[in-house]
Amino acid sequence: MKPRKEWVEKAKKNVALDAVKHVKDGFVVGLGSGSTVAYAIEEIGHKIRREKLHVLGVPTSYQSFMLAIKHGIPITTLEEHPILDLTIDGADQIDDELNLIKGMGGALTREKIVAFASKKLVIVADERKKVKFLGENNHPLPIEVLLFAAQLVMLKIREIGGKSVLREGKGKVGPVITDNGNVIIDSNFGLIHKPAELELKLKSIPGVVETGLFVKMADIVYIGKPDSTEKIERKK
Ligand code: A5P
Repeated sequence: MKPRKEWVEKAKKNVALDAVKHVKDGFVVGLGSGSTVAYAIEEIGHKIRREKLHVLGVPTSYQSFMLAIKHGIPITTLEEHPILDLTIDGADQIDDELNLIKGMGGALTREKIVAFASKKLVIVADERKKVKFLGENNHPLPIEVLLFAAQLVMLKIREIGGKSVLREGKGKVGPVITDNGNVIIDSNFGLIHKPAELELKLKSIPGVVETGLFVKMADIVYIGKPDSTEKIERKK
């Protein structure tokens, strides 16, 4: 087995290269957030210059906004382009039906809006993210919440079986404040056997802005392994 750090970075680059093959001339592309999609954003920039493409990007966070600028991808907005051709994004966990947990980078709300606006959602991840059921290994579900309602939402989440913590900042005291000015609650529900049901319950709590559950949204997932890449397409 190769040392973890070495194969993981290589795997992230490989899946990014595969995902960017879906980008075509004239496309408006949603740019996800995180360390894996960062490689894809760099490659989109290279591809635009190499193939003289007209491609516009809609960033899902300040991180992807800054990366898009750095790599020369012209930026647009959902106001101008409410329908996108494609979004490429990362994920924190991926189950057998290609449902996702996202949001460990705190960008889940814009990521979900942009994914919803897209004709196709392509996910890039290394194989450590692949699980049978979401929530495996005590993985929390990130939920973006209005600070005003945070304690109430945590109480209501406890009633439906979730243990929550308010995400604390690193490099700054106090809670993480998202790009939308809200806070993140990380909730542990154990194994999530019925993600669609959980999503409905969470979205019915006033104060919940968005959850990191992406149910039946991913069309294609590229999984990077130590020596290969696996492409999985969602059964419709
Ligand atoms: C950002 O909020 C997340 O949804 C990321 O897409 C996710 O955390 C994957 O990030 P990495 O590619 O860095 O693991």
